[in-house]
Amino acid sequence: MAKRRIYFDNAATSFPKPPGVHDAMMHYARHIGASAGRGAYHEAVEASEIIHQARRRLAQFLGASQPESIIMTFNCTDGLSLAIKGLITEPNSHIITTTMEHNSVLRPLSALQEQLGIEVTYLQADNEGFIDPEDIRQAIRKNTRLITVVHGSNVCGSVQDIASMGIIAREYDIPFLVDAAQTVGHLPIDVQEIPIDMLAFPGHKALLGPLGTGVLYIRPGFETRLRPLKEGGTGSTSEIPRQPDFLPDRFESGSHNLIGIAGLNAGVEFLLERGMDRIRSHEVELCQAFLSHTEKVDGLTVYGPCDVDKRVGVFSVSIGGYEPGELAAVLEQQFSLLTRSGLHCAPYAHETLGTFDQGGTVRFSMGPFLSQEDVAYATDALKQIAYATDTN
Ligand SMILES: Cc1ncc(COP(=O)(O)O)c(C=O)c1O
Repeated sequence: MAKRRIYFDNAATSFPKPPGVHDAMMHYARHIGASAGRGAYHEAVEASEIIHQARRRLAQFLGASQPESIIMTFNCTDGLSLAIKGLITEPNSHIITTTMEHNSVLRPLSALQEQLGIEVTYLQADNEGFIDPEDIRQAIRKNTRLITVVHGSNVCGSVQDIASMGIIAREYDIPFLVDAAQTVGHLPIDVQEIPIDMLAFPGHKALLGPLGTGVLYIRPGFETRLRPLKEGGTGSTSEIPRQPDFLPDRFESGSHNLIGIAGLNAGVEFLLERGMDRIRSHEVELCQAFLSHTEKVDGLTVYGPCDVDKRVGVFSVSIGGYEPGELAAVLEQQFSLLTRSGLHCAPYAHETLGTFDQGGTVRFSMGPFLSQEDVAYATDALKQIAYATDTN
């Protein structure tokens, strides 16, 4: 019998999805099919209701005061680009970010450096992937226009203290953007408790929706400081050629990915029903198991924090003698384990961990449907490979 393939690439996109997600997408595809806000017939009204419900649920999920602050995007990259390029329009701008960022922050910043000549400070993380929030204060200049920080590392799972960072940003009245690609749906986040101006996240990772979905949360009132990156039809105020100023239409031009949003709506419903405490404690248990099973194995290195309270379930590993791609291939071919090798679109994070020159690492990332047995099987596979390498 073929071995069960075990998916450990939830940091890229989650799999499997809860059955309710497939059902919602099938229901939309079979019985609705219309575009939201574009007609008065029953199906179009139902399509609009799906988006409204998804917005309400997402707002509830984040503790946001109003559903209109939830801007639907097509992935996390889309939201980050809107946040960064929508805000930074002046050449004489300085931006503070970190060495743990994903290319979906690094590249828009690099583009702005080329296009506008802006200046960027990259705060150096320590060897577990943490930034000292006080380093932000030291880096602030008169012309600092944005502080942008990745909440959870997609390379080694370190979770930054965004509450302290947000307080510093607010103290100096500097906009604070958080890339929560690896934390929304893994950890409880309350956007009213933490001083966040913009929070970008995908719908297709821990929110358990399909690819092609994402969100940019914008703090009420902050939207006036953000320029839309695209203008177009919204189904509202059609008599006026100018883009509407109100939310969410100011930032949602063009037809929505309704089939995707139907799935995302069901993914968030699943999380709300299960509760974030339960989701988080399951992940913490998986992290504890991964760390304890891989402790003190000759030849095997696990990068990132040992303290499970300061991490999410994203683990980078390497085994001496193996290129990352080679190790991932052995894990798939001999053990049916699906992982992701290389630099994970985060070159400075790998430089920080000292893994850039070896071509990166192999990443295992957890999801809510993985079990203790899956983690035991995966870590046992790593031990077998490490021991075999050691005795050769
Ligand atoms: C930390 C981080 N930021 C941003 C992204 C981009 O997300 P998306 O693929 O939804 O654009 C990812 C994706 O892996 C990520 O891990």
